[in-house]
Amino acid sequence: MESCIERIKNDIENVTRITATPNMGCTRFSYSKEDSEVREYLIKEMKDLGLSIKVDGVGNIRAKYIDNNEDKPSIMMGSHIDTVANGGKFDGLTGVVTALEVIRVIKENNVKINNPIELIAFAEEEGSNFGSTMVGSKILTGAYKLEDLKKIKNDDGISAYQVMKDFGLDVDNVENEVLKKEEVKAMVELHVEQGGILDSEQISIGIVQAIVGMKTYKVKLKGVSNHAGSTPMYLRKDPMVGAAEIIIHMEKAAKEKALKDTVATVGKIHCQPNGSNVIPGQIEFNVDIRDVETEGMEIVARELISKTKEVAEKRGLEYKVDLIGESECVKLSSKLINIIEDTALENKYNFIKMNSGAVHDSAMLPGITDVGMIFVPSINGLSHCPQELTKFEDIKLGCDLLLKTVIKLANE
Ligand code: GLV
Ligand code: MN
Ligand code: MN
Ligand code: MN
Repeated sequence: MESCIERIKNDIENVTRITATPNMGCTRFSYSKEDSEVREYLIKEMKDLGLSIKVDGVGNIRAKYIDNNEDKPSIMMGSHIDTVANGGKFDGLTGVVTALEVIRVIKENNVKINNPIELIAFAEEEGSNFGSTMVGSKILTGAYKLEDLKKIKNDDGISAYQVMKDFGLDVDNVENEVLKKEEVKAMVELHVEQGGILDSEQISIGIVQAIVGMKTYKVKLKGVSNHAGSTPMYLRKDPMVGAAEIIIHMEKAAKEKALKDTVATVGKIHCQPNGSNVIPGQIEFNVDIRDVETEGMEIVARELISKTKEVAEKRGLEYKVDLIGESECVKLSSKLINIIEDTALENKYNFIKMNSGAVHDSAMLPGITDVGMIFVPSINGLSHCPQELTKFEDIKLGCDLLLKTVIKLANE
């Protein structure tokens, strides 16, 4: 019994045709027009399988396949359906369509399962709208409350709460929908690696042991906007050069002051008014800091705060540093790692155990249930870009491992 590569491919192609940036990768932000269209497609596929479907107040789609024993806890699988701007075809979606395929195979083969199987398609994992990652899973697990949705805002200053409400979600209800321990027995997420280890070592499967923690800061620097020609250098209060100094220092802090695996990135920056002959009045940028050790993140965070103060005082700038999102480093369940590993060995799959440098919705669930993750290779290690690529043969292998793991978990 195995998964069907053509069906997986078909789902991925059908979904990724729906993008706000044709020919420039996948842009499918949660709560957008593209998100609605993709939801319609996926929900139809889920209905065709006879799943019972519920969309919660933050937009997570939960779809259950029940053979018998409706009241037993579910084996959950899935991932997210949103993307970064100009992202790839495989990040998140691969875990959703393989979960769908697992249910198709179980159903068409009449496989006996003692626990229900639940597919979850998380909303707003990437943080593309509000700068905070894993909003759907933070709400599902109670790490975020309704109040938090009122605080986090998009670039137009509109709260997550309002955006979700305008999308037609029953957002006021989110605190009644928190996942309970007795609802779920295990969660398994399949995802593309998004790094180059598996591809460079020609290995098809990664079994994840730990997921990095993450802190996202927003830095605001305010100076004085003025004429780029007539303002001498000594009379300027230019927040752009202040930002440049801080950004360079982030690279230095991660490389030289923090730990072996600490990384720091500035990938989002806003300049006002953004004119080539105008000294900027204000710069805002985000700093994304990650490590599997909390200490590594904390070192860079302290450096960010002290360097920003130093640069702002030296240059006469107003400044603000806000932590807009964070998640802890997590170790995944050794029980699930062992089950996935045994299953891979029984089926002679080529695998290694590894850590994840990307965050995933699964990182929010360990307080509630046993969590495992399966990685499949990203060609050349590319992700969060249009060139992101994973071979369908590898996705099929990952899907077969997911299928066999889920069946085992549902019959323990
Ligand atoms: C989310 O995909 C992240 O790891 O940034
Ligand atoms: Mn992802
Ligand atoms: Mn991603
Ligand atoms: Mn991610």
